[in-house]
Amino acid sequence: MNVLILGSGGREHTLAWKISQSPILQKLYIAPGNAGTKKLGTNLRVNPNDFEAIKQIVLDHKIDLIIVGPEEPLVRGITDFFNQDPDLQNVKVIGPSQEGAMLEGSKEFAKRFMQKHQIPTAAYQSFTADKLQKAFHFLETLEPPYVLKADGLAAGKGVLILDNLETAKKELTAMLQEHKFGTASSKVVIEEYLDGIEMSCFVYTDGKNYIILPEAKDYKRIGEGDTGLNTGGMGAVSPVPFADKNLLKRIEKKVISPSIQGLEKDQIDYTGFVFFGLMIINDEPYVIEYNVRLGDPETEVILPRIESDLLTLFTSQNLKDFQIKITPDFSTTVMAVSGGYPNSYEKGKPITGLNSVTESIVFQAGTKQENEQILTNGGRVLAFTSLAPTMKEALNNSYNSLEKVHFNQMYFRKDIGFDLS
Ligand code: AMP
Ligand code: GLY
Repeated sequence: MNVLILGSGGREHTLAWKISQSPILQKLYIAPGNAGTKKLGTNLRVNPNDFEAIKQIVLDHKIDLIIVGPEEPLVRGITDFFNQDPDLQNVKVIGPSQEGAMLEGSKEFAKRFMQKHQIPTAAYQSFTADKLQKAFHFLETLEPPYVLKADGLAAGKGVLILDNLETAKKELTAMLQEHKFGTASSKVVIEEYLDGIEMSCFVYTDGKNYIILPEAKDYKRIGEGDTGLNTGGMGAVSPVPFADKNLLKRIEKKVISPSIQGLEKDQIDYTGFVFFGLMIINDEPYVIEYNVRLGDPETEVILPRIESDLLTLFTSQNLKDFQIKITPDFSTTVMAVSGGYPNSYEKGKPITGLNSVTESIVFQAGTKQENEQILTNGGRVLAFTSLAPTMKEALNNSYNSLEKVHFNQMYFRKDIGFDLS
């Protein structure tokens, strides 16, 4: 079959790497892709949010299956666009309907869904600008820290955690009245702070049955010891050492199973991934957020652990009986980012040494190729993924590989996974 992957980051390079190994793949296309995906398939210069342009490449290249990497096209309704077009009836889209994508596209929708289906999550209320005084009163009933969430998509920046009531009120005013996150913050969810340890779980679902994928823990802050600004993610590990069988079972029973049943009960069309962002408190899981796609850099650690063929999974007529094979090996990834990220940074720096890496797979994120030279082209540039029987060995391999690769002002965290090993 011919496959199109939408997106251009490390997640999409990893998906392309995995899909390119499939025995049932004929041709692989990535739109727009990056310098890494270019080696595995054909990059097409099309914006994943331009559905008409995507339709054209799907028809031109006889694409059978589309995997949507990022959330934005899903939240804008790409799956419904394809499913409703008579010319595109035979194209399978891996990604939920627009309604399903609301689980990520609207925090309030997600909270209501969790309440309705009794999925453990933080207590909350949501407010619009005309209810600012009420929102202040609600804040006053809470203990610090205060958690404010823009309802809509805000490129991963829409969550604020504030220690002080006055600052929280100021930020809330900025979100609701001064459009701090544009229309994404015209509604704000205020929720109870959950004090625990975070991890993420992933499933692939047809909206009724689900296959549990490897779990992961990512490192969001720019600085060592989890300090400094939030980023898209500076590294990840899988499996998560503290997530023993009992905890994983509880997560399935209390979170995964009721979430998928909730989709079915609410008649929400959903074929694709669900990413459960969890807080574990006293060994009990609470959902912090749903994402309707795979994570980045979580994909860079979970896909290399999956031994089964993904295209066979996506085209299975009997997901209920699909047996997924996952290696018990540890997978670690460390991100090399541009100096200055997540604030402003320079692009276009030549990357050297990639060919001398032998102990890791280097997944490219923000890169582009000019002639034979690979250049930096984003904040997060390269993900160094290693697999080994222990987390320590995997991390050693990732860090050894990082020593071999250079670009001007390259930065990475030296403590990924160290809190867990
Ligand atoms: P999100 O953008 O929803 O992933 O949230 C960003 C981060 O904020 C999460 O990864 C958590 O670290 C933190 N966070 C979100 N909600 C809560 C909460 N209710 N309690 C504590 N931390 C939270
Ligand atoms: N690494 C977090 C995310 O992909 O949302």
